[in-house]
Amino acid sequence: MQYIIDGGVPLQGTVRISGAKNAILPLLAATVLASQKCLIHDAPALNDVAVMAEILRRLGASVRWLEDNGGRVLEVDPRHICVSEVPDDLVRQMRSSIFLMGPLLGRLGRVRVAYPGGCAIGPRPIDLHLRGLEVLGARIHERFGYIDAEATQLVGREVHLDFPSVGATENVMMAAVLAQGVTVIRNAAKEPEIVDLQNFLNHMGARIKGAGLDVIRVEGVERLGGAEYAVIPDRIEAGTLMVAAGITGGELLIDNCIPEHLDAITAKLRETGTFVEESTNRIHVRAADRLIAVDIKTLPYPGFPTDMQPQMMALLCLAEGTSIVTETIFENRFKHVEELRRMGAQIKTEGRTAVIRGVPMLSGAAVEATDLRNGAALILAGLASEGTTLVNGVSHVERGYEQLELKLAQVGARIRKSV
Ligand code: UD1
Repeated sequence: MQYIIDGGVPLQGTVRISGAKNAILPLLAATVLASQKCLIHDAPALNDVAVMAEILRRLGASVRWLEDNGGRVLEVDPRHICVSEVPDDLVRQMRSSIFLMGPLLGRLGRVRVAYPGGCAIGPRPIDLHLRGLEVLGARIHERFGYIDAEATQLVGREVHLDFPSVGATENVMMAAVLAQGVTVIRNAAKEPEIVDLQNFLNHMGARIKGAGLDVIRVEGVERLGGAEYAVIPDRIEAGTLMVAAGITGGELLIDNCIPEHLDAITAKLRETGTFVEESTNRIHVRAADRLIAVDIKTLPYPGFPTDMQPQMMALLCLAEGTSIVTETIFENRFKHVEELRRMGAQIKTEGRTAVIRGVPMLSGAAVEATDLRNGAALILAGLASEGTTLVNGVSHVERGYEQLELKLAQVGARIRKSV
């Protein structure tokens, strides 16, 4: 499957942001801990969400989509969960299945999951997840490509993360919810998705404090109920569309977002000369007359998100001057560079640094998406290019953006999908 993009149209109009992929996946994993039905509003219909729903079904839950005033709601009934093995075929499709370790340990006292392995952006180890669970008393065996973990009763302890890993923070939080006593997670990740997970778990009766700060305190409880909850909007989708306005010389109103979650992106876009104005749940973006080069360094939240690095790099290809982009989170997140070069970008990389000399114009080419966010960057570059761009590998993009091509077309982009 590919996207065919005829570039050069300044995007104009309003786009509504969907629920956050990186929030709903841990929320769905957390439903394993519930003893009653959970309703999740604003759930995005993404491939990754479908995979997580299928995993939950195979564990014994019932999961279905409901309609509510035109919006979609995901209903999970976890009462009959009894299987502790996460199905291999689905683990291969989605790394986030590793999130199920903490909740399954909490609920059933054991879990077996295939080792998720690396991915397009680097090796992505899970040592911090496993060490955190071990501190809470899990016995972990890694053999023949599987991880087996068991614990009759997890016990609250101090967990110090060597790095504020988003996934490890979430996994340990979920394991700690039904543990005996108090768990304190130090050097925890501070991403908004962690706060969303805390709020969801607390709705079910958990006692968690501190998410959004670097120390999280989880007081174990005996049992969780169910919850009705609305997932936060996707800050990376919002950031991608902000860049879409800036890179095409257009003007967009980004509706249904939390501007505070986008502070680092807003600050950098303003430095490029792009006009950004925030209101309660909307952001108005108007392109700069001419883009100015800026330097970017990816960092854990509230720093500039690694998930926006490729998209921002696409924009900087067209900025006047030289920009330096430093990727500190993932080892191998420059695969878009070679593809952007095919479109006329001037980029040199050394290790984790890319030096981008802005050019006045990019030109359409056939390019290949190898992961979700680099696919988004190539689409953005295509929208701003002269001529036609073919982006192959769009299944990566569809894992994490809900109806991106439709949303872009609604604000004027000439983009279509072909099989
Ligand atoms: C989450 C996001 C992903 C985002 C990333 C960083 C989800 C579903 N995915 O991924 O979109 O790009 O945060 O913001 O929420 N690390 C270890 N050992 C571990 C765990 C992580 O060394 O046990 C390293 C990773 O290799 C990476 C860094 O820590 O270099 C950050 O990873 P982490 O924060 O865990 O990212 P994810 O939770 O996988």
